[in-house]
Amino acid sequence: MSANGVKLPVSAQPNTGPAGHSAPSKVTLHLGHLPSKKDIKGPWPRTPTRIDPNNPPWPAYRGYHEYSFAHATMGVRLPTILGKAIDDTFRTLNEQSSEDKVVDLVQCIERMDVLMTDLSGNAKLRPIIDDGEADVALWNKEIAKFFQGKDFMNAPWLFAEAYKYRRLHEAFSVSKHWADYDVFYRQKCDTFSRSSDAVFELSMRFAEPFSLGEHLSPAERLEAERLMFLELTQVCLWGNSTDLSLLINMTEEQIKSLQSTGGEHLAATEKNILGNHLPQVWDTVRELRHKTGGRIDFVLDNAGFELYCDCVYADFLIQSGLATQIRFHGKRFAWFVSDVTKKDWEWLLNTMVYGHLFPNVTEQERESLRRLGQRWKQYEREGKWVYEQHPFWCTGYTFWDLHSEAPDLFLHLSRSDLVFFKGDLNHRKLTYDCAAPASTPFDVAIGPMASAAGAPKICSLRTIKSDVVVGLESDELAEKLDNEEDGWKISGKYAVVLLSEGRPGEKVRFA
Ligand code: F6P
Ligand code: MG
Repeated sequence: MSANGVKLPVSAQPNTGPAGHSAPSKVTLHLGHLPSKKDIKGPWPRTPTRIDPNNPPWPAYRGYHEYSFAHATMGVRLPTILGKAIDDTFRTLNEQSSEDKVVDLVQCIERMDVLMTDLSGNAKLRPIIDDGEADVALWNKEIAKFFQGKDFMNAPWLFAEAYKYRRLHEAFSVSKHWADYDVFYRQKCDTFSRSSDAVFELSMRFAEPFSLGEHLSPAERLEAERLMFLELTQVCLWGNSTDLSLLINMTEEQIKSLQSTGGEHLAATEKNILGNHLPQVWDTVRELRHKTGGRIDFVLDNAGFELYCDCVYADFLIQSGLATQIRFHGKRFAWFVSDVTKKDWEWLLNTMVYGHLFPNVTEQERESLRRLGQRWKQYEREGKWVYEQHPFWCTGYTFWDLHSEAPDLFLHLSRSDLVFFKGDLNHRKLTYDCAAPASTPFDVAIGPMASAAGAPKICSLRTIKSDVVVGLESDELAEKLDNEEDGWKISGKYAVVLLSEGRPGEKVRFA
């Protein structure tokens, strides 16, 4: 058959016409005068008519997908993390004296054991017990509407993983004495104390309010400010590569190298930012002074060292006058091991001012940390820094549903001039954690967070630690890394800095 010909089946059975003549079973057409065949790429990989938590805009990652990080996480990492949490609770148990509290804590451990059995036995996802928390209705509505009969492995990974952390919280929240217990608290404090080199590298530079030098012309000042902005954005970005859930087995040396904040290192790491909107982010921020006065929000990720980097960056934004107010959004309870809670926030600021975490440092270094902490606490008193904790951040919903499930939060964020989302999990939630092509533009990947009226400008500062990757110039770049570098999506070596312009200033509307 020539390239221009096509065989069309006339019928599966030989056809015998009224006159008894046998028709041929195939008719051959010659299509030489039609346009030649084109190399058409299929739509990737489908366009669902309905998007919901069980049907993301592109296929979801699920625990049983052996090719994805979901599989290792659900099957190995989460049980390991839970096992460590149980060990931590035993340690606390051994420190107690009151019988009432001991018995109460033993029951918490029993509930954690049940969770371990459910997780390793791949049980179905049951509703969350009403423990009086503000998020219970959101959890149970989502389970009833989208995940009836689903289990840990066949529910979308994002939901199943978040659910595990909510069940862990429930093990304590229904108790009498231990409702606020944080099984990861000790580990979170440890990361900061183990990060001394990078901590003092920054505190020694920023203890004193910085000045750009009186002798500079306005243009030179702006340039100096731009360079500082770019360096500190990278400090804030790479502070995310050291989250506890992945670094449990890392040596001190490996952590130090990941945390290196030296200028040369930063220049070298910029090439690892695979989708890089840093120049656009600077253009946005430098305008703020002249426009609205500048409210910047941080949807925080991890406590300890990462939070410290976030605060150094936020301090620069305030001191430079680029922003007048920073709002930090944290979690209400222990979440994905290392995420910031109110207690972690307070701990950091207080340990900087009053603590003795670093026995081997000079008095000068200790003083630098103290001054930095004092300044940050002063920002809080003056209302320049505000810490918040909306219940929506600890639900299984992605941020595609923030507009519909937490309208008050959407409205609140819409009043911000720029919202930074830190880290891997926030990025997964922005992008619905699904297999979108790597070249999908960021504002397409985040759906209503970019397209809804009033959506704020959003910047994702994320080191890549899981499967979803968007905002790259081409799919080929991701394919090349797939072929050449095993594990590039989970190493934290690569990053993205992606900006969505949103629809700021438009009136927010809800259906
Ligand atoms: O368990 C996987 C995960 O959710 C990944 O997204 C990431 O590796 C980690 O946990 C959390 O990372 P981050 O603290 O940057 O959100
Ligand atoms: Mg985290």
